[in-house]
Amino acid sequence: MNQHFFDQFLFIALPYVCLFTFFLMTIYRYRVQSFSYSSLSSQFLENKNHFWAVVPFHYGILTVIVGHLIAFSIPRSLLAWNSVPWRLYVLEVTALAFGILTLIGLVGVIVRRATSTKVRKVTTVVDWVLFGMLLVQVVTGVSQALLYPWGSAWFATSLTPYLWSILKLSPDISYLAAMPWLIKLHIVLAFLIIGFFPFTRLVHVLVVPNPYLWRKPQVVRWYRRGVKKG
Ligand code: HEM
Repeated sequence: MNQHFFDQFLFIALPYVCLFTFFLMTIYRYRVQSFSYSSLSSQFLENKNHFWAVVPFHYGILTVIVGHLIAFSIPRSLLAWNSVPWRLYVLEVTALAFGILTLIGLVGVIVRRATSTKVRKVTTVVDWVLFGMLLVQVVTGVSQALLYPWGSAWFATSLTPYLWSILKLSPDISYLAAMPWLIKLHIVLAFLIIGFFPFTRLVHVLVVPNPYLWRKPQVVRWYRRGVKKG
């Protein structure tokens, strides 16, 4: 298999298969098994290590994802921010810190699941595959921040145009030609995680009870026959 064909498979065919699977199966699972749309919390089975694993992981991953979305959606503003050196340094150090926080949290999540007998019992093969994929994704992300710095700049100039070309249905992989294999692995795995998403507990991301933030406060009143009001 020549290199060109291989790249076309990894960076054109695979992303479309994963995105298609994501949309189709996410909707299908919601319609057919909406009760399974949950993080399937295990807090009640083990609460000691829970906080120090799940909480840092979420602060880390949510910040890192927001960073990726900013680079993807407003690359010019990001490059303008980076044009002053100290601002570039602040951004890079902050991104690296949250990446490391994600890694620490994720290792905590995995160790907790492996060491608590009760939590291990409710952990499926799909969970382990997902944790493995997330671990490699976070390790490659942090490694590339250390080995290939100024990611906020090269993401905005090289990866953003590639990702938009995929979304606009006119894929252009020339932007990726000179990318090191570590970055290519990070991209491929990102698409694989998106494709795997609807089969995992990650679906909880879509059912966060956001209306709590703006709905009217609800008053819950107890009514029991025969009980005198105080
Ligand atoms: C949108 C905001 C999010 C909220 C409100 C949220 C909330 C939660 C909650 C409540 C749990 C259950 C923890 C427990 O009690 O056991 C959980 C678990 C989990 N979340 Fe999230 N999550 C969010 C985003 C994400 C994202 C973006 C990812 C990864 C890409 C993620 C990955 C996970 C994983 C892997 C678990 C399982 C941890 C474990 O139980 O071992 N979450 N999440």
